[in-house]
Amino acid sequence: MSIAIMLIKLVPLAMYALALAHDKRQGYVGAGAGIYSSEDSLGDVGNAYNYWRIYSNGTYDLTRGDVSPITSPKLLPFFGLRSSAIIETSRSVLCIIDMQNYFLHPALAPTSDDGRAAVDPMVNLVKSFRGNGIKTAWVNWGLNNYDLLMLPPSVKSGGFNNDSMGMVQDGNRTVDAGMRLMAGTWNVEPYGILKEFVAEGIETGTDLLFNKNRLSGLWGAQTPFGMWLQQNEITTIFIGGVDADQCVRSTFMDAYFKGERLSSQCHHSA
Ligand SMILES: *[C@@H]1O[C@H](CO)[C@@H](O)[C@H](O)[C@H]1NC(C)=O
Ligand SMILES: *[C@@H]1O[C@H](CO)[C@@H](O)[C@H](O)[C@H]1NC(C)=O
Ligand SMILES: *[C@@H]1O[C@H](CO)[C@@H](O)[C@H](O)[C@H]1NC(C)=O
Repeated sequence: MSIAIMLIKLVPLAMYALALAHDKRQGYVGAGAGIYSSEDSLGDVGNAYNYWRIYSNGTYDLTRGDVSPITSPKLLPFFGLRSSAIIETSRSVLCIIDMQNYFLHPALAPTSDDGRAAVDPMVNLVKSFRGNGIKTAWVNWGLNNYDLLMLPPSVKSGGFNNDSMGMVQDGNRTVDAGMRLMAGTWNVEPYGILKEFVAEGIETGTDLLFNKNRLSGLWGAQTPFGMWLQQNEITTIFIGGVDADQCVRSTFMDAYFKGERLSSQCHHSA
């Protein structure tokens, strides 16, 4: 499987006790915020700022409507344990990981047929997200010289150095692949038709491109992508891309661990 689309809603357990303490001080919960249930709801899980509301019909309401306005909700069917969810599209993003020459171009990744087969479906998926007013974030490897210096040996031993990977054949032209996964090189460019597709999306404002310097786009204290999520109060992330077992998976896991709702927390305590 080189493509994985997963919906995550994130509960920051670490912040839970803190939020409750804060609520008591502010009387916020008493004012009717999320952790109290409404008529057709079985209850809420989370804290006043970051909660899911579970309806008796099995739908998970992920909109956090008591915290921020609901302007464009969407009911989505699920295929797993949970039958459906309501998302707020203005606080959702499609995050696509690593669909770059390094991972997909036949000259650098000759065995990645499954990944290349994911390109056309991904284009269709992005188009449908664009059509529903949900932004797409392409979260790609893109190291700089500082990263190259600071990468821990565990990561650096994966072959990161400042040598060019050499000349490669791209269609009828020969190009310098550049330094492995370094920003600005040919090997980190979006693969094939994605190059123009991403550029168009950025041009029209539906898409964004973020560099990452680890497998995960959300590792550590903060990353460029994480900062954007926080500043834009995004609470729902759809994650896909290549490779599902490494970069997609680790970004997914970090998102699950973090459960960002910090910007709203700051906002409401201000
Ligand atoms: C379940 O109930 C909620 C709340 O009334 C509603 O918004 C949602 O559309 C319902 N789900 C389905 C699948 O009809
Ligand atoms: C690459 O490595 C060489 C040799 O270690 C060094 O002289 C050079 O400054 C490095 N270049 C960059 C861009 O880091
Ligand atoms: C190289 O390929 C491109 C597009 O596939 C084509 O437009 C161009 O004419 C080709 N150039 C040469 C020198 O064959």
